[in-house]
Amino acid sequence: MGALHGKVAIVTGAGQGVGRCHAELLAAEGAAVVVNDLGESADEVAAGIVAAGGRCVAQRGSVTDWSAAQALVQRAIDEFGDLDVLVNNAGFIRDGMSFSMEEQQFDSVVGVHLKGHFAPAHFAAVHWRNVAKEMGEGAVLPARRIIMTTSESGLFGGPAQSNYGSAKGGILTMTVVLARELSRYNVTVNCIAPRARTPMTQVNPKFAQPSEGFDKYDPANISPMVAFLASDAASEINAQTFIVLGDQVHRMRPTEIANSISGGGQKWTVEGLIAAKDEMFGGMPSGIPVWGGPPM
Ligand SMILES: NC(=O)c1ccc[n+]([C@@H]2O[C@H](COP(=O)([O-])OP(=O)(O)OC[C@H]3O[C@@H](n4cnc5c(N)ncnc54)[C@H](O)[C@@H]3O)[C@@H](O)[C@H]2O)c1
Repeated sequence: MGALHGKVAIVTGAGQGVGRCHAELLAAEGAAVVVNDLGESADEVAAGIVAAGGRCVAQRGSVTDWSAAQALVQRAIDEFGDLDVLVNNAGFIRDGMSFSMEEQQFDSVVGVHLKGHFAPAHFAAVHWRNVAKEMGEGAVLPARRIIMTTSESGLFGGPAQSNYGSAKGGILTMTVVLARELSRYNVTVNCIAPRARTPMTQVNPKFAQPSEGFDKYDPANISPMVAFLASDAASEINAQTFIVLGDQVHRMRPTEIANSISGGGQKWTVEGLIAAKDEMFGGMPSGIPVWGGPPM
């Protein structure tokens, strides 16, 4: 029996790339899956999963459309009776340096990632809260999962991605906010930063498939971590972020204070901060941080 037997999952942006691999693996692990994407790619992926013996339907619609996000969650409930796992994955890039970026370029990328992650999460949360109310105080609530998708650009700040990087950074914060809010409904919310060869990245020759040996950037390498986080085995993992690529899983350290200085009960003065500058950094670098992601 698969790790997700009996679960109902939604994967957004699952018509291709990493999301498609997630949908296929979640279904292979026993989940009934709603495949979301903008157009017919969603139908094709769903048909493939059904042909392989899985339970799956397609639900077209944009994750940035509030009513489409509501319809997406409702489809899972209508079709399969409930919703257990929401994988927020849909997105795109429109890169440009800060001095070249246009308004639509900024708004569309921030919209698809930030609102596109929040809107389905909102309607999933509405459903889970309603179920909890119906079950009543003290009931053992079913385990629910949200898996969010950030990026190394969101973690470390990729140049030419002030739209994408800051939206993906916002997803890191949204992960923690949702985890804090929804743990009372037995929902965990975790986040992955994938790195894989997809239509989004395949222009970069470093992602090319090797002629032999392990295909490090096969997008299917990402999905086992998503299936694991979706499973009951991950019930105590919450508000965490992982970089996932190839055979690697890198757990990120949650944001923490690096060092503190105090004005001793008095407001700091500018002169005082100038004098305390070295103490503030405690010998640590004070410039642009080194890129923290694993090497290609
Ligand atoms: N591939 C990587 O190395 C990489 C790295 C970091 C982060 N990511 C993130 O992983 C996720 C998947 O990326 P991918 O590489 O598979 O990209 P992809 O372009 O192959 O797939 C993204 C899918 O999202 C869909 N989509 C776009 N806008 C949508 C909308 N409004 N509503 C519904 N679906 C929509 C697209 O149609 C597409 O099928 C994205 O969030 C991306 O930012 C990918």
